Amino acid sequence: MSSFDISSVKGDLNRGQVSWEAPSNIALVKYWGKKGLQLPMNSSLSLSLSSSKTKTTLSWKKKPEGEGLSFDLLFEGKKKVQFQKKISTFLKRIEEKIPSLKDYHLQFDSENTFPHSVGIASSASSMASLALCLGSFAAYSGVETFLGDAFYEQVSSMARLGSGSACRSIYGGWASWGPYQLDEREKGSDFYATPFTKIDPLFEEMSDFILIVDSSPKKVSSTEGHALMEGHPFAEGRILQAENNMNKLVDSILKGKWDIFQRVVENEALSLHSLMMSSNNPYILMHPRSLAVIEKIKEMRAKTGVNCCFTLDAGPNIHLLCPRSENAKVKRFIESDLRDLLENERWIEDSVGALGPKPLEC
Ligand code: PMV
Repeated sequence: MSSFDISSVKGDLNRGQVSWEAPSNIALVKYWGKKGLQLPMNSSLSLSLSSSKTKTTLSWKKKPEGEGLSFDLLFEGKKKVQFQKKISTFLKRIEEKIPSLKDYHLQFDSENTFPHSVGIASSASSMASLALCLGSFAAYSGVETFLGDAFYEQVSSMARLGSGSACRSIYGGWASWGPYQLDEREKGSDFYATPFTKIDPLFEEMSDFILIVDSSPKKVSSTEGHALMEGHPFAEGRILQAENNMNKLVDSILKGKWDIFQRVVENEALSLHSLMMSSNNPYILMHPRSLAVIEKIKEMRAKTGVNCCFTLDAGPNIHLLCPRSENAKVKRFIESDLRDLLENERWIEDSVGALGPKPLEC
């Protein structure tokens, strides 16, 4: 990927601004469990979405030396104290990458393009957009590691320190993260994600229908869920399963094999939830209606042969994926068979966003 265009920065090094939007992503092979500082226990592969995004503006103002790092965070124009600690931890983790940060007061203004409280995780898109703004600031102030072609790799590595899955939201289309080697040239890394571009036409235009089953706040956070993978009785098996699923999934995407794709995607979704249920502090994030929706999808597929499959994040909502050519049939099915199972009959139509993040006018 090319480097960042410095001309999108407004102002100067004393006082300036930069804005980015970054997509949300849905993992098909799931990152679950960490080691070290936000490094993944296993490889993962995701799709970046085109409509579910976060927009962030970073404004910086130079301040007297020695005052230390300070920041404000506004979400949709309002101060958000509940995100304060997360951002503070994130900024401390990245300080050594951008040493001059401590000489500035920073303000982040963020907003999501998707509706409030529908249970769509926004940490990937928000941390990715923050990291893109900070990476642009770094490039603008001449931090060498952020100049030239290394920009996106560096930003991905920084986003990872905010939220693991955010490192994949730095790219459009498909992205992988972790040791899995996509081909001889592109060796996978635990530190940053890599775009995956060798896609069979069947998978080039995919839709993601996000079916809102329950939008109430999660009882167990992803951070707690990852931690429960330490000492999990199936941890070793999970690492092998994920690498094996990466192999099968990448092969199916390269060769356009829908059946294998579908089987692996659904295996991953249910494995993620079974790891939660079999952890040393077991819990369930699926809703009874999540299971009802899954059953209906399977029944419809068996009857009609429509190419579609489901996946879940760490929550009860269902992502129903299909090639764009199946859109009309899948929409009719949602309207007729699934609508009543959804909270406020709500679902969101999204798709794979090939373009990925972009800088915005401030
Ligand atoms: O990035 P985190 O720490 O919120 O973890 C995300 C975990 C899953 O969404 C369940 C899987 C993934 O790979 O995105």
